[in-house]
This record gives sequence, C-alpha cells and structure tokens, in this order.
Amino acid sequence: MAEPLRLLVVCLGNICRSPMAEGALRHRLAEAGLEHAVHVDSAGTGGWHAGEPPDPRAIATAARHGVDLRPLRARQLRREDYAAFDWLLCADLQNLADVRARRPPGATARIALLTDWTGTMTGDGAIPDPYTGGDNHFEQVWAVVDAAARGAVRRLREGRR
Ligand code: 4NP
Repeated sequence: MAEPLRLLVVCLGNICRSPMAEGALRHRLAEAGLEHAVHVDSAGTGGWHAGEPPDPRAIATAARHGVDLRPLRARQLRREDYAAFDWLLCADLQNLADVRARRPPGATARIALLTDWTGTMTGDGAIPDPYTGGDNHFEQVWAVVDAAARGAVRRLREGRR
C-alpha cells in the first residue's frame, strides 16, 4: 500500500477554520474508507492559541454536523512541517503568503490554497476568518470546509495526490 498522503491545513489561529477543515476532512475521508490513505493535521501561522482546544463556536458548529473537534489542540506552524507534510493547504490568501514566505531551505511540501487543491474554489478561494463574526459565519465556514472535504475525496478517488 502506498504511503499515506500527508495534509496540513493552515489558518491564522488554528482554533476556527483549520480545525474545522481537519474535522470535515477526517469525517468525509472516513466515510469514503480513505482514512488510512491520508494523514490530516492542522496548524496556525500564529501561536497565540497554542495548546488550546478549538473555539467553542467551531466545536458547536462541527458537532451539529456530527464531527467532534474537542480532542484537537492548536499549534503553530513549524519549519519541520515543510518536510513532514506533502501539502500545506491554506485557508486564505494571507495564510498562503505567510506560509510561502516562511518556506525554509530544503522544504519539500507543496503549498496551495485548500479550496484550490480540492477543486471547490469559488471567488478568490479564501475561507473568511469567522473569529470576530457570529454563529452564522461559522456555519458558512462549515459549508466551505465540508465542500472542500468532499472535493478531497473526489481528488483522491481520481488517483491524484
Ligand atoms: P482561525 O481564526 O485563523 O480560523 O483559527 C482566528 C483565530 C484567532 C485569531 C485570529 C483568527 N486571533 O487573532 O487570535
């Protein structure tokens, strides 16, 4: 069996968008029987929330969709991630710029916008930051990350890594 594909979803704080994307990806991959084919993790470009569980609004939103984010803990993106993962998949264009700017020598991970990688991009492909928004913003983020997770399943079924 091929080595699992290693995906790291990256946002700013690693308490809203990227843990929601991590949960949605795990859920849809498991549903498709692909949980052993893909390793999914998430991180933030910022480290302010390191060690914390996801935002309560992210936990509540995911729970409404049958996904438990409570075991997750935030961490900051580190230089090792650029070799430990095949793809660094970014939530928005600022995250993408920051991840590219920090690329260390010898980095092997490829870097893309999450929704571009999953073939589910609309508009500029960014997942808007819901941190200062309301519960409806978290539902909108869920819709985007769940569509991305389903797109990831399609991509993998097509044999594309
Ligand atoms: P996230 O949202 O990047 O989707 O996790 C944010 C969480 C925290 C902060 C900003 C965005 N913050 O500034 O603390």
